[in-house]
Amino acid sequence: MTASRESLPAAVRETDLELVAIAAVAANGVIGRDGEMPWHIPADLEHFKETTMDHPVIMGRVTYEGIVEALGEPLPGRTTIVLTSRDLETPENAVVASDLESAIEAAETAARERHDGTDRAFVAGGASVYEQFLPAIDRLIVTEVHDAPDGDTRFPEWDPESFREVTRDDHDGFAFVEYVRRE
Ligand SMILES: NC(=O)c1ccc[n+]([C@@H]2O[C@H](COP(=O)([O-])OP(=O)(O)OC[C@H]3O[C@@H](n4cnc5c(N)ncnc54)[C@H](OP(=O)(O)O)[C@@H]3O)[C@@H](O)[C@H]2O)c1
Repeated sequence: MTASRESLPAAVRETDLELVAIAAVAANGVIGRDGEMPWHIPADLEHFKETTMDHPVIMGRVTYEGIVEALGEPLPGRTTIVLTSRDLETPENAVVASDLESAIEAAETAARERHDGTDRAFVAGGASVYEQFLPAIDRLIVTEVHDAPDGDTRFPEWDPESFREVTRDDHDGFAFVEYVRRE
């Protein structure tokens, strides 16, 4: 069950950053299987890279470890903020946060000091992290994957009435769709 906005820490509710969730979601809600994405869509990886480049990107420890395993390093050109209760060692472009409040504070610092004062931070999953931030998410950038694969991780339920679709870019097998929270 997604938490209410009021239950979020003030630092999250009141941040000046635009909080943007970015996810690739199958028709059955699946986003992951065995720690990976259950599809390989190079155009989606490119879209993720272009969209998030030069911004703070908040993610859970499992997603972070999957990226480091695949790339050999955290996302280049971005500051990754890794939510974890563990004492992780990270390279210079990644920082550890032990709760949502410190994750937002780290994103604000990175936006100011490393990303030219950008007013936007991305929330890049996985399921638990999308779910926790959802009440504070201002914009959703979703790659709607026209498939229903087996998986063990799903995007949380979200209320389509609370968002309006602002762009849809159709491709063969998937669409890039952007939703903005209604006032
Ligand atoms: N399709 C997509 O767009 C997309 C995007 C991202 C991920 N994924 C997929 O999703 C799966 C991973 O998602 P997941 O939900 O299993 O894991 P996750 O959200 O990436 O990571 C979960 C971990 O994050 C940490 N965490 C979460 N909230 C926290 C909090 N408030 N405070 C401190 N630590 C916190 C905990 O780490 P500790 O256990 O270290 O405390 C928790 O075990 C993978 O299959 C991945 O490929 C898909």
